[in-house]
Amino acid sequence: MPLVTTKEMFKKAYEGGYAIGAFNVNNMEIVQGIADAAIELNSPIILQVSAGARKYAKHNYLVKLVEAVLVEAPDLPIALHLDHGADFEICKSCIDGGFTSVMIDGSHHDFETNIELTKKVVEYAHERGVVVEAELGRLAGIEDAVNVSAADAAYTQPDEVEEFVTRTGVDSLAIAIGTSHGAYKFKPGTNPQLRFDILAEIEKRIPKFPIVLHGASSVPQEFVKIINEHGGALKDAIGVPEDQLRQAARSAVCKINIDSDLRLGMTAGIREVMWTKPEVFDPRDYLKVGRANVKTVVMHKIKDVLGSEGKA
Ligand code: G3H
Ligand code: 13P
Ligand code: ZN
Repeated sequence: MPLVTTKEMFKKAYEGGYAIGAFNVNNMEIVQGIADAAIELNSPIILQVSAGARKYAKHNYLVKLVEAVLVEAPDLPIALHLDHGADFEICKSCIDGGFTSVMIDGSHHDFETNIELTKKVVEYAHERGVVVEAELGRLAGIEDAVNVSAADAAYTQPDEVEEFVTRTGVDSLAIAIGTSHGAYKFKPGTNPQLRFDILAEIEKRIPKFPIVLHGASSVPQEFVKIINEHGGALKDAIGVPEDQLRQAARSAVCKINIDSDLRLGMTAGIREVMWTKPEVFDPRDYLKVGRANVKTVVMHKIKDVLGSEGKA
């Protein structure tokens, strides 16, 4: 089948009490690691591309890599999504360029501007059969396209969601309930707690509406250890507890975004080979270990966190 939108995926996920993993892709090995896991576990997936990924690998290369997965697995539902679209132009470019889903991230704008911008993208996207994710509330974290200090982070206000969804016509909504972007989320020894009370309130205001969680990596400590034991210098930090993500996946949360955990897996594999086998200079020798780690991460997420195994 061709690339699909997230509409049917989210409907089934909502009703079935599981979530779809949205994994960031930047190169062939990451696409393959994710695809291998999804194919083996017969799980639908969302492959998402950030502005930084487009700049690094170029739009057409990424689209063709994702389309190659369709050839390998013709029956697997796969959506191609723009992650954190900052303006109308990048959304338009992805809609025109083969994506089936885009995010317009107007979360740093005021409420009215966010509505106006989201509505404009929704109108353009829907006329072309593409679905749209928007965001209310601000997550902490630092990435290429996302730079919000902890002090500027703000939980989503349940009071605003109904009006936002109705006026924009958006298809899914990313909310801030305590997750955060990147590998340095929370201090070790702390007890991160997602605000399930806010999630429940939001669910009440917009029943049956698909909710998205960004910044949902769990920062696997085994990869941090491998990286640091092989010449890396990562600071101590922990991620979002996986039992809480599992709980979220059972509720209105239909899409869970994971990027940092893939980066950690890829880096751990490459560092291990580079450090222990300094004679290696064939990129395949270290990239294949990184790719295998990406597959391991995604297998674990699908089986133990998202609950999407066998749902393709
Ligand atoms: O949430 C952001 C994603 O992890 C993408 O990060 O902008 O560095 O590609 P990036
Ligand atoms: P992580 O940094 O927690 O992997 O979040 C990724 C993300 O939200 C992509 O949009
Ligand atoms: Zn994000």
